[in-house]
Amino acid sequence: MKKIIIAVDGFSSCGKSTLAKDLASKLGYAYIDSGAMYRAVTLYFLENGIDPDDPEAVDDALSRIEIRFLRMNGENHTFLNGRDVESDIRQMRVSAQVSKVSTVSAVRRAMVRQQQAMGAEKGIVMDGRDIGTVVFPQAELKLFMTADPDERTRRRYAELQARGVNISPEEVKANLLHRDQIDSTRADSPLRQADGAIVIDSTHLTREEQLARALALAIAARG
Ligand code: DC
Repeated sequence: MKKIIIAVDGFSSCGKSTLAKDLASKLGYAYIDSGAMYRAVTLYFLENGIDPDDPEAVDDALSRIEIRFLRMNGENHTFLNGRDVESDIRQMRVSAQVSKVSTVSAVRRAMVRQQQAMGAEKGIVMDGRDIGTVVFPQAELKLFMTADPDERTRRRYAELQARGVNISPEEVKANLLHRDQIDSTRADSPLRQADGAIVIDSTHLTREEQLARALALAIAARG
């Protein structure tokens, strides 16, 4: 069976990762959360006092960063220089800085190179902001996810509550909108709908409905 590349882009907390994960598992494909890579770089910068506006410090830091993914008990874990940072990279202090760090071109170049290498064998679903536009413009299927901001806030708030994070819905919404703003207006590879991308608005769709829609598109794209 022909293997394809599936790019899933869209705003923060639209359900991209859930859909991408579900799709990868149905198809027996690898799933890569590209946002986790930018989050891992951000965590490294925070922990090591790296100023994203200092090009030399950034280059030096990037040469010291190794990011890997491992599946453990059916869950994806992100490793930064051998340490499991899956939970640390989801903290608010990382969420508050990650969009800023993601505007740095040297950071983007390093991440895109690694992401393209991960897709060399195809059979991959990758979610992010620039997957269909920059990382895999030749992807056989490109999805672009959107959802109503209040629904996104509700989902993200519930997710953070479940993890015991103490935060108000207003703060969650402000962070989401702030990230959307930076992600879609940055100079280097801003978030935008790729040519040929198919929009999925997840506001009124259940997880199963989103998967059914994406799976049908994937099967058609696989040929
Ligand atoms: O998908 P996420 O919310 O975990 O991503 C965190 C941030 O990383 C997001 O606000 C912007 C950045 N990002 C990016 O610039 N390019 C990607 N391909 C993925 C994420």
